[in-house]
Amino acid sequence: MAGVIIDRVYMSTMDANNKEELYSLLEYVKELSAVDFAVYRQTTIGRRLETRLMRTGIPDYASYLDYLKGNPGELYALMDAITIKVSCFFRNPFVFEALREIVIPELLDTFKNDTLRIWCAGCAKGEEAYSVAILFKEIIDKEAFSPKVFIIGTDIDRAALEDAKKAAYKADSVLEVKKYYLDRYFDVKDGFYHLKEEITSLVTFAYHDVTTLTTPKEGVFSDYHLILCRNVLIYFEKEICRKVLNSLSGFILKNGYLVLGEAETFMPQLTKDYEGIMRGTKVFKRK
Ligand SMILES: C[S@@+](CC[C@H](N)C(=O)[O-])C[C@H]1O[C@@H](n2cnc3c(N)ncnc32)[C@H](O)[C@@H]1O
Repeated sequence: MAGVIIDRVYMSTMDANNKEELYSLLEYVKELSAVDFAVYRQTTIGRRLETRLMRTGIPDYASYLDYLKGNPGELYALMDAITIKVSCFFRNPFVFEALREIVIPELLDTFKNDTLRIWCAGCAKGEEAYSVAILFKEIIDKEAFSPKVFIIGTDIDRAALEDAKKAAYKADSVLEVKKYYLDRYFDVKDGFYHLKEEITSLVTFAYHDVTTLTTPKEGVFSDYHLILCRNVLIYFEKEICRKVLNSLSGFILKNGYLVLGEAETFMPQLTKDYEGIMRGTKVFKRK
């Protein structure tokens, strides 16, 4: 709530001139990066940009645009500032309990002969995609038959994707990881928790922007058994949020699942196609 109030104050103090300059800046960023930050909540973008202005000691958006044109490396710093990559393994453990207890066993049962296709959209540095991979690995090892699984994690932050591939994490990223999983799937070296190859080999990472309303081409498939898009939509303006949710829900097979973040709301018009499966989580099953 406090954030909303600050946002409103921020917007009302932002004059028209400032808004023009902001849009020119975002237009230039779109030309360079292909990401359209104009569809993100402008208050959030504005506040994130302010931090770049302060760091670089530049007084306004117009001068910052000139600076960006002369310093191509600044684009990465800007994208890093705008994209919020807070995540951790097994974030909101309840959700992963639902995946472990209900979703994965059901998918394995319903789609026995398929390669299960799982997409983590907005995967940050890979924590969520690898958490899902650990759950699958546990089940795969116990099953008499050998289920096949394809897990893809996508993001617009290329540096985050590179970190995801390295799969080395600080202690605060693995606080929610059960001791058994830590011992079994991580090597601790030089203060980092390194995921073992038996888990990293289950996940593919690729660049993809969910606002394009497409599936990642590296995923090859255009339909999925399970899509997680958690704590990504909260950064978008309402209209694009609706479009992205609509497109994601359309990529899920009948009896497949969609998982959103705790603060994200499912659109009422989708509730005829989806049902929530566990109170306190945003895990939805396609009817
Ligand atoms: C707060 S993190 C969420 C990470 C993870 N899903 C979780 O819930 O822990 C949001 C991620 O969404 C990514 N992101 C932002 N806009 C995106 C877009 N248009 N397409 C794909 N990813 C996006 C950011 O780069 C960031 O890594």
